[in-house]
Amino acid sequence: MTDKHPAPKDPSEVSREHDETERRLDGPALIIAVPLLLVAIYFAFYGVDSGRSDIETAQMGTPATEAGQVRQITAVTSKTIELPHLQPILPPGPGLEAVEVNCVVCHSPRLITDQPDFSREQWTEIVHKMVGTFGAHVTADDQDLIIDYLTFIKGTDTSGDSQ
Ligand code: HEC
Repeated sequence: MTDKHPAPKDPSEVSREHDETERRLDGPALIIAVPLLLVAIYFAFYGVDSGRSDIETAQMGTPATEAGQVRQITAVTSKTIELPHLQPILPPGPGLEAVEVNCVVCHSPRLITDQPDFSREQWTEIVHKMVGTFGAHVTADDQDLIIDYLTFIKGTDTSGDSQ
């Protein structure tokens, strides 16, 4: 009977063994546990927060300290949706309106401003080519206005001028 069922240990003995086990682990366990805890706390506060702060701030439109970030996001966004509004590159001059109405339908006005200076005759040829070859719908009056304007902004005073 005593062989089959060894007497249960004295409860106080068991608890003493347990205490010793705990005491033995105290040193190494703390050395590992404390840094882990610190890392966990760090990520809890900074890791997770920084992951979503930009979007949240942009949506909520919150504090002054984050305003710079929000503005930066807005600036990037507006840059990507900026439309090519090219008309302002045509310098002011008589007949500008006729050019804006007739000459930016098919291509950018940059095609005009990127040209070198031409004589009145050469500009006349180009306008006639737009109308005759490319099918631009421009009245005779407007053609004259346009030729005047082109000669005004990008004309040459050299011998090419037949008039
Ligand atoms: C019906 C469409 C259309 C209209 C409207 C039009 N153009 Fe053009 N234009 C073209 C085409 C096509 C080209 C050739 C583009 C190319 O070579 O890549 C061209 C080219 C040009 C060029 C480049 C030089 C050259 O000789 O090819 C100039 C300058 C020009 N156009 C000026 C004008 C002016 C000024 C007007 C207004 C009277 C005008 N365009 C209206 C279609 C048009």
